[in-house]
Amino acid sequence: MSEPAATLRLFFALWPPDDLQARLAAWAGKAAGRGRAMRRENIHLTLAFLGGTAAALLPELKAVAAEVRVDPFRLALDRVGYWKHNRIIWCGASEDPPALAGLVADLRARLSAAGIRYDPKPFVSHLTLVRNAAGLPQAPAWTPLDWEARDFALVGSTRVEGRVTYEVLQRFPATPD
Ligand code: 2AM
Repeated sequence: MSEPAATLRLFFALWPPDDLQARLAAWAGKAAGRGRAMRRENIHLTLAFLGGTAAALLPELKAVAAEVRVDPFRLALDRVGYWKHNRIIWCGASEDPPALAGLVADLRARLSAAGIRYDPKPFVSHLTLVRNAAGLPQAPAWTPLDWEARDFALVGSTRVEGRVTYEVLQRFPATPD
């Protein structure tokens, strides 16, 4: 048996339900060209990227996240875009709901207060659909999709035989006041 890892590669994310992931992956597969479409089960929206984190911090991390308060909210995935600097095709909302900005701010403030390190780059809301893409293709057209976000998740990332694999370690429900 292998020893449990002392360091985990972690991030917090909104994790779409399977059917939404499937629709996003279907579009990504058609749009990818020579790029690399994200696998269905890997599609997500990152809230805070922690990177390598001591496994011993997991209980504290979960306790901190459990204190975050957010109402369930609707995210209208109404646009796609292309970023030249990292060659990704992404989808997202033209306008983020205030609840999403509030969730990110609350989560990050609580992580900071607990002395837990994360990538401090400002939050830019997006779901990566294709990596190593040359640009946004003319087709297929984008059909807006609605997402009812009911929780957020702590996720671990591992590389198995060269493939990045994500595991949702714990979900934290959004609860109306
Ligand atoms: P990306 O999809 O735009 O590349 C897991 O790597 C997730 O964390 C990805 O969604 C990635 O965003 C995001 N992420 C944010 N900051 C990161 C960083 N500094 N290094 C790696 N991934 C980061």
